[in-house]
Amino acid sequence: MRILVLGSGAREHAIITALLAENAGHEITAAPGNAGIAADVPTIGLDPTNPAVVTGFALENDIELVIIGPEAPLVAGVADKLRQRGVAVFGPGKAAAQLEGSKTFAKRIMDDAGVPTGRALRAGTIAEAIAAIDDYGSPYVVKADGLAAGKGVLVTEDRNAAIDHARFWLNHGSVLVEEFLAGQEVSLFLLSDGHSVLPLSPAQDYKRLNDDDDGPNTGGMGAYSPLPWLPAGFVDEVIETIALPTVRQLAEEQTPFIGLLYCGLILTENGIRVIEFNARFGDPETQVVLPRLITPLSGLLFAAATGGLGSLPRPEFSDDVAVTVVLASEGYPETPITGRIISGVDTALAIHGVSVAHAATAKSGDNLVATGGRILSVVATGADFIEARSRAYLALEAIELDGGHYRTDIAARVAK
Ligand code: AMP
Ligand code: GLY
Repeated sequence: MRILVLGSGAREHAIITALLAENAGHEITAAPGNAGIAADVPTIGLDPTNPAVVTGFALENDIELVIIGPEAPLVAGVADKLRQRGVAVFGPGKAAAQLEGSKTFAKRIMDDAGVPTGRALRAGTIAEAIAAIDDYGSPYVVKADGLAAGKGVLVTEDRNAAIDHARFWLNHGSVLVEEFLAGQEVSLFLLSDGHSVLPLSPAQDYKRLNDDDDGPNTGGMGAYSPLPWLPAGFVDEVIETIALPTVRQLAEEQTPFIGLLYCGLILTENGIRVIEFNARFGDPETQVVLPRLITPLSGLLFAAATGGLGSLPRPEFSDDVAVTVVLASEGYPETPITGRIISGVDTALAIHGVSVAHAATAKSGDNLVATGGRILSVVATGADFIEARSRAYLALEAIELDGGHYRTDIAARVAK
């Protein structure tokens, strides 16, 4: 298949790695990609958020499937334009992508579909925000309403910090104040063709910067899959009570959700609750879900893009487990220092079961340099979490970067 993958992160690198692992002779192009992706497939420097440019490229090159990695092209309407021109695309249109782009929209859909989620109040002024903060009490949860690249959410016991966060994000629009939900978090990805859904294997993401879930929220510092502690029937319950009602609600509103419904869930004492939806594969969870996928990814994504999921069996996953640990630049997430040289990746790759998904890397002469905050995801599979973790951390020790840092406790709780 001729496939175009939009994006430039570790998630897109993991998607491309899974497509190549099919050994099906796919012709894959990535736009714009990064240094790691460019080592595997041709890349093209086009703007992935420009609907006309992407559609023009897809038509000229007879692309049979476009896979949209990040949220920005979705919110910019790239999938709508491709679909209008008859190009199969895995990714929702602008309207359905609001499920991620607007937390208020997501809450409204959940209310109308009867999907279990925490209580939330939208505030347009600081007075409203403070009233909601005091109404729900500590710990406080304050979120920017629009896309904020993982930085818009503050969970804190410090009332003043909660108010300051609300004040900051009110400059950019409205904020949502939410009830705090306690419990283990689960990321569950579901493929949707607008009507039917198929689940992938659950994963857990580590959102906080430092070990023991300390420090600020980030885009994600590591992940593992599967989740051995999940109660039986968990995935079925999410399908019945969350994913299908959401997909049906969007279809009823003439904004079908075609793509990846990312359910960010919390397993509370009172049952499963949605913390957030995303309209795309999660990063870094994709890096641990796709290496375990046995069913060819291209067939699943093409079926979702063309309305054919209903007739397919659930995707199959290997019994192997996977762990990923993100290497971040000094200063991430506030002010990452870029331009530094990364070495030792080849040594890491020589370790059995290890792969490296590049995120913010570029070539500068013969050197690999860091171009952003989350630089790469070291991924390791193994027969169990002890094995996968030891491979992942051995690989990280082989990689050198001044000021580079990573969490040391990824998947520690399941490695027994
Ligand atoms: P979000 O971007 O909405 O997923 O939020 C980022 C992270 O903040 C989540 O993964 C949770 O760890 C935490 N969080 C968000 N909302 C809540 C909530 N209502 N209760 C507890 N933790 C939350
Ligand atoms: N890992 C969280 C996300 O992709 O939004």
